[in-house]
Amino acid sequence: MPDILVEGTYKLNGSVKVQGAKNSVLPIIAATVLCGGVCHIENCPKLSDVDASVKILEHLGAKCHFSGNILSIDPSGINDYVIPDNLMREMRSSSLFLGAILGRMGKARISSPGGCELGPRPIDLHIKSLKCLGADVIEHNGCVSLDVQNGLIGKEIHLSFPSVGATENTILAAVTAKGVTIIDNAAKEPEIEDLADFLKSAGAKIYGAGNDRIIVEGVKRLSSATHKIIPDRIVAATYISCVSSTGGDIELKDVNPAHIRSIISLYKEAGCEFSETTDSIRVKSNRRLKSVSTVRTLTYPGFPTDAGPALISSLSIAKGTTIFVENIFQNRFRYIDELKRFGANVQTEDRVAIIKGVKNLSGAVCECPDLRGGSALLVAALAARGNSVIKKTEHIKRGYEDIVFDISNLGGHILYI
Ligand code: UD1
Repeated sequence: MPDILVEGTYKLNGSVKVQGAKNSVLPIIAATVLCGGVCHIENCPKLSDVDASVKILEHLGAKCHFSGNILSIDPSGINDYVIPDNLMREMRSSSLFLGAILGRMGKARISSPGGCELGPRPIDLHIKSLKCLGADVIEHNGCVSLDVQNGLIGKEIHLSFPSVGATENTILAAVTAKGVTIIDNAAKEPEIEDLADFLKSAGAKIYGAGNDRIIVEGVKRLSSATHKIIPDRIVAATYISCVSSTGGDIELKDVNPAHIRSIISLYKEAGCEFSETTDSIRVKSNRRLKSVSTVRTLTYPGFPTDAGPALISSLSIAKGTTIFVENIFQNRFRYIDELKRFGANVQTEDRVAIIKGVKNLSGAVCECPDLRGGSALLVAALAARGNSVIKKTEHIKRGYEDIVFDISNLGGHILYI
């Protein structure tokens, strides 16, 4: 991927459409494995993680076709249950295919997703749930093989942590299991509700998605479905962060304000002004940001870990000191060394970052360590005096359809080089 060149301190103005949610579309693509006919996924963002998911589907035997932002998938030819190692490595979330492949084929095999840029990313909770529904599991030489002898059978499952991926995998395995599955302490993220809505339009019976108790009544088979992906709340949060740091007045279109209450509330505390309709948000920032009271990342509806890096960038030029506690991922702060190249004063210890706001950042050459770390560097570059070059931008492409185009349309001086 080309580098990104940014000349900072230009205010952002105008309106931008928010893309479909990465974290919705990935499990929904996996869910099509269970469907009986052609599925159409509308508002599908064009991301490298989506391409990686499509490659997995095609490897399994599905036929996929993009027309603009509609992804059509014909899963009728699926006849494989193994995701090869090279495809697993392209995308960590490929473990989301486990429940769906198991539901369709009665067996599934993947190589273990192992560690990743955010620290160890185990799938023990996914495996525990699938075992509970009747899968025999063998873990050997970094591979996980699951086999179901007598069909998956609904059970009551309590997740020890409301993991997003484990909740999704459990739903996927349960929708065509015999009997009723109850998932307690389920994740409540909007993307879980979106997955359930997709599955329900294909004939699944799911009650309570979006709450911490989800009930899935197994059905014999799923049919086809057409579904529109919800707006990406983390992309919306990133654009809010951009304008909060540069100053300006932007409108986010196709966004669900209810999904980003915790984010809006923090940027309001920092001094931004908001107004909203049911599907748009206007954000104004016309003075230096202020520090905010301690921020803690939490599961939904708390402040999302994925929106943390961009927020920290914004607060690095706020007046005063903010304490930020990362509760979800161990290794989230890797971008902070890169942020320091811009002159940010951020100290970290374990899961805590102390952000002492400086008056100005200066342009820097930096490398994205991961997707959301990349968003933090973009925010810093837009706010910094002078030119910045951002390298390793393939991480950004995993989650942002075309952030360079969007920001440049809003008046930012940014381009690929
Ligand atoms: C999803 C999102 C990711 C977001 C995260 C938290 C997708 C594709 N990705 O990731 O962008 O940052 O939710 O909102 O939707 N854990 C275990 N064992 C497990 C599963 C998880 O210990 O079996 C731990 C993880 O290591 C992590 C925490 O639980 O510390 C949260 O993980 P989880 O909610 O599962 O996140 P993901 O589904 O991986």
